[in-house]
Amino acid sequence: MRVLVTGGAGFIGSNFALRARERRPEWQLTVIDAMTYAANRASLEPVLTTGEVALVEGNIADAALVDGLVADHDVVVHFAAESHNDNSLDSPWPFVESNVVGTFTLLEAIRRHGKRLHHISTDEVYGDLELDDPARFTEQTPVNPSSPYSATKASADLLVRAWIRSFGIEATVSNCSNNYGPRQHVEKFIPRQITGILQGVRPKLYGSGLNVRDWIHVDDHNDAVIAILEQGRLGETYLIGADGERNNLEIVRMLLELMGKPADWFDHVDDRPGHDLRYAIDSTKLRRETDWQPRYGDLHAGLAQTIDWYRTNESWWREAKVAAERTYERLGR
Ligand code: NAD
Ligand code: DAU
Repeated sequence: MRVLVTGGAGFIGSNFALRARERRPEWQLTVIDAMTYAANRASLEPVLTTGEVALVEGNIADAALVDGLVADHDVVVHFAAESHNDNSLDSPWPFVESNVVGTFTLLEAIRRHGKRLHHISTDEVYGDLELDDPARFTEQTPVNPSSPYSATKASADLLVRAWIRSFGIEATVSNCSNNYGPRQHVEKFIPRQITGILQGVRPKLYGSGLNVRDWIHVDDHNDAVIAILEQGRLGETYLIGADGERNNLEIVRMLLELMGKPADWFDHVDDRPGHDLRYAIDSTKLRRETDWQPRYGDLHAGLAQTIDWYRTNESWWREAKVAAERTYERLGR
């Protein structure tokens, strides 16, 4: 099977390429990535140097390029997106271009060539839940996005659903909760705090620190994507989550403990505007219809592995860290 991976030089896409090589070595992978600030060629180095994966540097909104690539592959796994909420509040246009126009461009090529698409999305399209609400998101939850990022992801999801219904394309969609693990950009919460602590900087909690995210290891997310590609029903949406609800303060305390710092060694900073309170995923449908189960049940152990990775791969993140902290300084966070 020839698989085109969009956004495969980013966090989840590069981990997908590495995981697929391990679990499905017979697949032929091509990555298309615009190599934005969020991409890192080094993430793919092990599979690029051996020729196991080909990297095409290009934009998914480039219709001619995308048309040729889609024609030459059997399946497209679509990770490419602008992915950071804080950036979307600062400058929304790149989010509209990559997430909406980019997805539209792919859909048109998929329709022309009759290929299979798996569209990667986020639980943030459903908006947020109250802290004391026992409810979790399901496939039936109506979309209700809060930020420019989540609004563009919801728009992309709706385009995919419309292309399924109106044009009969062969596609599936998954909405996953917050990922953590190796190769995540240092602008994101967990790697920002790990790399900060390694440099002697106290963690920064937005607002109260009581906002809840539902954490999943990136390998568990990618295993679910493989399960959906092989066992999912065409036209369906699947929610991916590993029952990992924690508030941000709890995460910071775990990192401090694992890294040998006092439990109160952090600061509160200004809150993110419109900051979603809580996300929570009910992944019953995925577990019922496929054989997927998360392997990283223990968040503590997963975070310890992630800390080790950042500790031993400083050259991977050093430059990006300087740029990310410059942006945060300008945003006052
Ligand atoms: P990331 O920012 O680390 O990687 C995104 C990649 O897409 C980058 O390599 C970037 O260069 C590339 N890209 C962006 N715009 C492009 C364009 N127009 N053309 C080609 N390439 C482009 O993001 P991530 O965290 O790996 O997220 C990947 C996908 O998973 C996104 O669709 C995101 O919405 C979704 N998702 C992320 C999470 C999470 O917790 N990180 C959770 C659920 C869903
Ligand atoms: O839920 C899935 C989503 O998770 C994905 O769709 C997004 O692409 C991904 O970026 C992530 O979005 P969040 O906004 O939840 O992730 P982020 O890492 O930016 O922040 C996680 C939480 O931590 C959030 O409540 C904000 C808070 N935070 C973040 C940073 C960077 C802090 O308290 N301090 C920080 O320094």
